[in-house]
Amino acid sequence: MKGIIDILQEEVKAAFEQAGYDGKYAKVTLSNRPDLCQYQCNGALAMAKEYHKAPIQMAEQVVTVLQESKTFQEITAQAPGFINMTVSDAFLADYMNAMRKAERYGVEQSEHEETIVIDYGGANVAKPLHVGHLRSAIIGESIKRTAKYLGHKVIGDAHLGDWGLQIGLIITELKHRQPDLVYFDENFDGEYPAEAPFTMADLEEIYPYANKYSKENEEYKEEAQEATAQMQAGRKGYRALWQHIVDVSVADLREIYTKLGVDFDLWKKESDAQPYIPDMVQGMKDGGYAHIDEGALVVDVKEETDTKEIPPCMILKSNGATLYNTTDLATIVERRKLFDPTRIVYVVDKRQALYFEQVFRCAKKTKIIGEDVDLVFLGFGTMNGKDGKPFKTRDGGVLRLEHLLQDVTEKVSEKMADRDMDEKTRAEVAAKVGLAAIKYGDLSNQASKDYVFDMERFTSFEGNTGPYIMYTIVRIKSLLAKVADMGIAVAEETVILPAQNKSVTDVMLSLSKWGETVQAAYAELAPHKICQFIYELSDAFNKFYHDNKIATNPEETVRDSYIKLSMLVGNVLEVAVELLGLEAPDRM
Ligand code: ARG
Repeated sequence: MKGIIDILQEEVKAAFEQAGYDGKYAKVTLSNRPDLCQYQCNGALAMAKEYHKAPIQMAEQVVTVLQESKTFQEITAQAPGFINMTVSDAFLADYMNAMRKAERYGVEQSEHEETIVIDYGGANVAKPLHVGHLRSAIIGESIKRTAKYLGHKVIGDAHLGDWGLQIGLIITELKHRQPDLVYFDENFDGEYPAEAPFTMADLEEIYPYANKYSKENEEYKEEAQEATAQMQAGRKGYRALWQHIVDVSVADLREIYTKLGVDFDLWKKESDAQPYIPDMVQGMKDGGYAHIDEGALVVDVKEETDTKEIPPCMILKSNGATLYNTTDLATIVERRKLFDPTRIVYVVDKRQALYFEQVFRCAKKTKIIGEDVDLVFLGFGTMNGKDGKPFKTRDGGVLRLEHLLQDVTEKVSEKMADRDMDEKTRAEVAAKVGLAAIKYGDLSNQASKDYVFDMERFTSFEGNTGPYIMYTIVRIKSLLAKVADMGIAVAEETVILPAQNKSVTDVMLSLSKWGETVQAAYAELAPHKICQFIYELSDAFNKFYHDNKIATNPEETVRDSYIKLSMLVGNVLEVAVELLGLEAPDRM
């Protein structure tokens, strides 16, 4: 089904041509003066150069052609050459009825199916999650769902960090505390125990301790670095410990991500890319792309057009060790081999922008991936606390996601204290609404911007917040339940009638943006566009709900039309929040 702007544009284009002008000027957009009209076309202004006529005169000619059209309630030419359009109620109602029947409520699937890998986890095993990981998960999940909805083949990858110094730190600390563990016995050649010698709670204590200590004690730090290198080189006991760390952490991470409504298709880790490194490095050398610089192997990635300095991409350190980017490059090789993607999207903190620029350039230059593959960096800003510094939880330490979820859920639960619900239901509802507060609070901001996590505002049931949106959906659900209770059955063929008043028109106008919103949200990797749509529609619906009798409308055809319209709003809102990774409760 065509988007409403496309439909209008086609009609306006035909009119331009009929008036003797090139149809390419007939671009229709949403009006930036909604008080004057709904849509506008500024094409006549741009035509003056080509046709040497006054824009207003040409705009008037186009408007004359469209005067009889049933699409418009009003179409006028305004000085100096704007065309202002307001569509007719009949046209809008027709569009609503078509949406109701169309698949995905009118969102067209993409013509070209892409294979997209989305890299949006980046959590590190054995290390606490921080706000960056939270944002990556929330934003990436929404983009993944949106791309899938548009019919693309999408692989969401957790890409866990499991190959860094944190492993060496834990091994070292463990060795200090329990030197007798078999993992440290170099002569041991039996089977290592299946059970890990630590729990997640132990790791949560060991890592911060070892990390802090290594910063105060140089010798300890070197020991940890050496242990990391030995683990990477394949020392058996250390690999066994690494495996335990991974298993214990991944089980914990799975739980957290599930609570967050984040669902990876793939749980790959940095370690999975390691086997691809030797061939990749050899290829870079053989191709003449890499050279030795002060003992290190590097690939130059600067380009003539650069306005700022882009340093070379280091592939191997002088001691032969690999780096964070060696792993990222090898992961590109791995993804190409496994999925042959047309696009890879990295949802990572924007402070890694330069780093990814280097990696992308290096990957293209050394031909480990084709020029035609779109490597995209979606950098996000920081989630700050009210003090303007990166958000911390109540104990002042790094963010513990469970605590954040718990705090928000408690807050929401408090606000629902007067509801007549049993405790279990209240807890379930509060969990859903709390998650909406966090995710919607994040997604409603443009991803690249920093934002302040404001507990009061995010959990408010009013304004542009997750709870308000959930509340609107719940309101529609209860309206429809009431309709059913009253024994009103609206036949399938009942149509939505042309609007009776402005509040109805506004609901329809908001709904009509659905298709174009989803397209734009994916094309621009901008979930906040879906949030804008949701908020506008919710607001329009709530005004409509307030101003009109729906279930009790004395006029039966109007009543049924309103019910159908409410159903459509409810259905579209539910799909829209699903694209954000949210689910509304049945009541709240
Ligand atoms: N593990 C990294 C971190 O915690 C993030 C990884 C981002 N993704 C990537 N492909 N480099 O900062």
